[in-house]
Amino acid sequence: MDKIIVRGGNALKGKIPISGAKNSALTLLPCALLTDEPLTLRNLPRLADIDGFQHLLNQFGISTAIAGSRPEDFGRVMTLQATRLTTTVAPYELVRKMRASILVLGPMVARAGEATVSLPGGCAIGNRPIDLHLKALEAFGVEIELAAGYVKAMAPDGIPGGTYTFPVVSVGATENALMAASLAKGTCVLHNAAREPEIVDLCNLLVDMGAEIEGIGTSDLVIHGKDRLHGATYRVMSDRIEAGSYACAAAITGGDVELIGAKADEMDATVNALRQAGVTVEETKTGIRVTSDGKLKPLTISTAPYPGFATDMQAQFMAMLCMADGASVLTETIFENRYMHVPELNRMGAHIETKGRTAIVHGVKGLTGAPVMATDLRASMSLVIAGLVAEGETHVSRLYHLDRGYERLEEKLQLVGADVERVGSD
Ligand code: UD1
Repeated sequence: MDKIIVRGGNALKGKIPISGAKNSALTLLPCALLTDEPLTLRNLPRLADIDGFQHLLNQFGISTAIAGSRPEDFGRVMTLQATRLTTTVAPYELVRKMRASILVLGPMVARAGEATVSLPGGCAIGNRPIDLHLKALEAFGVEIELAAGYVKAMAPDGIPGGTYTFPVVSVGATENALMAASLAKGTCVLHNAAREPEIVDLCNLLVDMGAEIEGIGTSDLVIHGKDRLHGATYRVMSDRIEAGSYACAAAITGGDVELIGAKADEMDATVNALRQAGVTVEETKTGIRVTSDGKLKPLTISTAPYPGFATDMQAQFMAMLCMADGASVLTETIFENRYMHVPELNRMGAHIETKGRTAIVHGVKGLTGAPVMATDLRASMSLVIAGLVAEGETHVSRLYHLDRGYERLEEKLQLVGADVERVGSD
């Protein structure tokens, strides 16, 4: 298995191209199920999760073609076409590797009248149920059965429509419900829906495909179902979590980095937190410039649904705050088991205490390199960020987590002068 070796000490300087958003791409791809016409997605990140999702869609008889990108380019263009579905079953072998596979349930039952999807696996960041996905679909009139580890959704005469109020905000459940509702017979209403930028990206694609959605960008969505949707060509939004991760990397090293393609208005909470920590963040014509003298102030942060501070940025900020001048308090409110990077950071010389959902990060004068491994995607990135300032070598193993969500991480870091390399491990 590969690992990444980080030799700390270089201030990052230069430009990093930000890729298309993984989390957006994972909900735009299943929209191909909603039409028999071609759907072309531009700016898709080259990631293991995207390849996995493409493979899943191929299983249903959806054709996929990649065009117009050279190996040295970041991103690619994919055209998908679901002329006819050959099966409506998403098997365990494919779904278990990727939790986002559950996002085929809504569009598939809307298009085909039935869908059978294995219960998902995915990141080990806590107990991640799918009850809200199912309850929203049920509220729209879809019949749901659970048996032998599979969910069977049925709406043989089409999805009637209905109203659902989410008891807690769920990104994935909002996405599933939106896709299903777009092809419903009647009107579907969602209250307390997620309003992450990735949800707005999904709504914009659905509207381009002919859907009728009111309230885009708010937590109350009204979807007037259409008999059919048509094809579209759509550019995936830029990845605000990737951008935020490199911003933390620039900040901890006292660097000066422009994140090309990043959009400040989609990552307000991250930008505000960086500024409070003493980092300079400016919008440029082409993205966001992040500069820091490496002197960081401690923060108090609590994760929350958008527009709050993203749980997907918690680990990277924790790594950065290890080097702050004082104690920071981080509270994780979204997932109950998302501090698995803490023992690894502590092995690098950090001083972090956790109590339940709260972590106290006591700033230290320096970190030291160590062999580390992480158990989820953002946790892995936090170890790379810590490695960038640590004395000596940090060996980050279990790279499959990073490859799920960071397009050619080591190449992007090398572009700004980091001493990082990927090697095969023994
Ligand atoms: C998405 C993102 C993930 C991010 C998360 C929160 C993708 C592919 N993944 O995950 O990177 O960390 O949003 O911003 O877009 N919940 C339930 N029942 C459900 C669904 C969710 O109880 O049916 C709970 C979860 O356990 C969690 C909370 O709701 O505590 C939020 O989860 P959700 O927003 O659904 O996360 P995902 O869509 O899985």
